[in-house]
Amino acid sequence: MFSPEGPSLRELCVQALTSVERGYDLLAPKFDHTPFRTPADILDVTVAELAGRGPFGRGVDVCCGTGAGLAVLERLSPGGVTGVDFSAGMLAQAKAAHPAATLVRADARKLPFAGEFDLAVTFGAMGHFLPSERPALFAGVHRALRPGGLFAFPIGTPPPITSPAHWVLLGFDTAMRLRNAVIRPPFVMYYRTTPLDAVTNDLRAAGFTVDRTPLTALGRRRDGTARCELLLARKPS
Ligand SMILES: C[S@@+](CC[C@H](N)C(=O)[O-])C[C@H]1O[C@@H](n2cnc3c(N)ncnc32)[C@H](O)[C@@H]1O
Repeated sequence: MFSPEGPSLRELCVQALTSVERGYDLLAPKFDHTPFRTPADILDVTVAELAGRGPFGRGVDVCCGTGAGLAVLERLSPGGVTGVDFSAGMLAQAKAAHPAATLVRADARKLPFAGEFDLAVTFGAMGHFLPSERPALFAGVHRALRPGGLFAFPIGTPPPITSPAHWVLLGFDTAMRLRNAVIRPPFVMYYRTTPLDAVTNDLRAAGFTVDRTPLTALGRRRDGTARCELLLARKPS
């Protein structure tokens, strides 16, 4: 699962026993050698989908980590690129990889922007937000965008109950719930709390008009449906 440069199992366990913020601070130097960094094929397909919907001026990557989404914005947003994350360790790695980007340390549930961006993206972070936290997250992104701005992010479609992936994700979420029942602070990371319809409804409630496009280049399930979709939430002009 991990390359030799990645974290050991012991390091991962120590990280998961701290808070989300501290866990990522510890993981940051090795994060790019884990499968948690959004892979290049997802980033490339997202760029391909968004390129025809531009041009975008300024872009922001919410929960930027070490900068996977900053690389996307650098290809789409010639007016400047901003990354926001609450882990200082992850931001330090992002700065080293993307020296031209503006990096802001902030909690994504309280984004400190208003009417500044034409494009917002987020990758691999939605599972860190409880359903009850999504309204604050989406309201902050809505506020950060200019009228007509776009908030785009890929999201996995649920694997069928008969597939091994369903049981792996269920097992992971169950382990995290047990961990969070007995250890403080919690480490919020769940795979099954972001169903497409619920996320779409929360985006609409925040004031976005929402479209979805299947990312079939990332693979299809046995029934032919895409494994991943791109959510396209537009702030009305
Ligand atoms: C799995 S990593 C994804 C990083 C990067 N977007 C990528 O796709 O490779 C999740 C990131 O979300 C950040 N994060 C989680 N909860 C956050 C919050 N409430 N506010 C800001 N950043 C948060 C973490 O610090 C971490 O860098």
